[in-house]
Amino acid sequence: MVRPFPLFNAPRVNPFVQGLSDLRAICTAPGKVILFGEHAVVYGHPALAAATDQRTHVEVDCCGTEFTVNGLRIHDRYHSYLLTAVKEVWGAQGRSEPIRIQTEGGVPSASGTGSSAALTVATVGAMHALLGKRDPAAIARDSFRVERLTQGGGSPTDTSTSTAGGGIAISRLDDPPNVGEKLWDLHWEDPENPRAWAVERIELPDLTVVVGNSGVKGRTDEQVAKVAHAQKKNAVVRDALADIGRITRDAVPLLRRKDFVGVGALLDKAHAALHMLGVNHPAVENLVQVARATPGTLGAKLTGAGGGGSMFALTERPQAVAEAIKAAGGTAYVVRLGGPGVQWVGAESMEGLPAPSAAPAADETAT
Ligand code: PMV
Repeated sequence: MVRPFPLFNAPRVNPFVQGLSDLRAICTAPGKVILFGEHAVVYGHPALAAATDQRTHVEVDCCGTEFTVNGLRIHDRYHSYLLTAVKEVWGAQGRSEPIRIQTEGGVPSASGTGSSAALTVATVGAMHALLGKRDPAAIARDSFRVERLTQGGGSPTDTSTSTAGGGIAISRLDDPPNVGEKLWDLHWEDPENPRAWAVERIELPDLTVVVGNSGVKGRTDEQVAKVAHAQKKNAVVRDALADIGRITRDAVPLLRRKDFVGVGALLDKAHAALHMLGVNHPAVENLVQVARATPGTLGAKLTGAGGGGSMFALTERPQAVAEAIKAAGGTAYVVRLGGPGVQWVGAESMEGLPAPSAAPAADETAT
């Protein structure tokens, strides 16, 4: 269901800037849950992730008189992802017209469910549409670049999941799990440490999970750095990373044949391995325990970088688990997995536009 955007009814501005008139695109992208493989994916093991039914909407409007986000001038302190996206996509294409970005986040922020990836993918997708491109692989690549430049590290898991939708496996390009159709590959050209990943589609059954946010903010960069340090010194940590890799591979056939009891058991094992990495947090552990103590729960694990953040549970009784999480002080979201990836809602392309004098009035209606 498309909600109307306030900007649709805003007065047109600068109608003849460099031959462009009142161009806008609306793009939506989903949040994500990492099912298996977080942290290990940084070391070349595969990860499995799924898009959720929570979505962020972004409208990009070209051209205003200055670059704005929700009516405020864009600023790196408040809009770090968006400013990077503007530089890396709009600026990199040689566009200098100021664009206005309007966001409506349906993915709760700092909840471990991919809000920054959804925002990045929807913004990049909207800018691509204005530039006449609608290629998910290109959006995934640009979005990964934006997220990595903004965060200073990390894998393309979140941005590729948000772009592709459904379920994906992400792995090292030279060691793919070969579990489904290859969607795209991604490269990071660091002369010291060049990296390349492959993204494959995985078959995901209709799954609803309960995400529990502890409210303790864990920083991805800090947790990734912590594991990097620990794995250099500690064989137990290296073993735990390898365990996570095996658990992730084992999960693919179980998901395919809808063996939810088996998947639940693997979630518990993955949680134990993440605990060994040192990224668990007492507040998250508490939510995992209350979820497991609720009859009908098949498994529960932390999700994402940890150090706080969120967990999720696979359960036959989502509402009961959500209540238990709330009673334990967490915030609960019942999310359906496997939602569609990046989508456009009424976009106009710059390509092939007639000269301003001949330009017809733009249609304001979203399609
Ligand atoms: O906290 P999130 O949801 O951004 O997940 C981070 C996942 C890590 O594997 C820890 C890092 C990464 O970029 O893959």
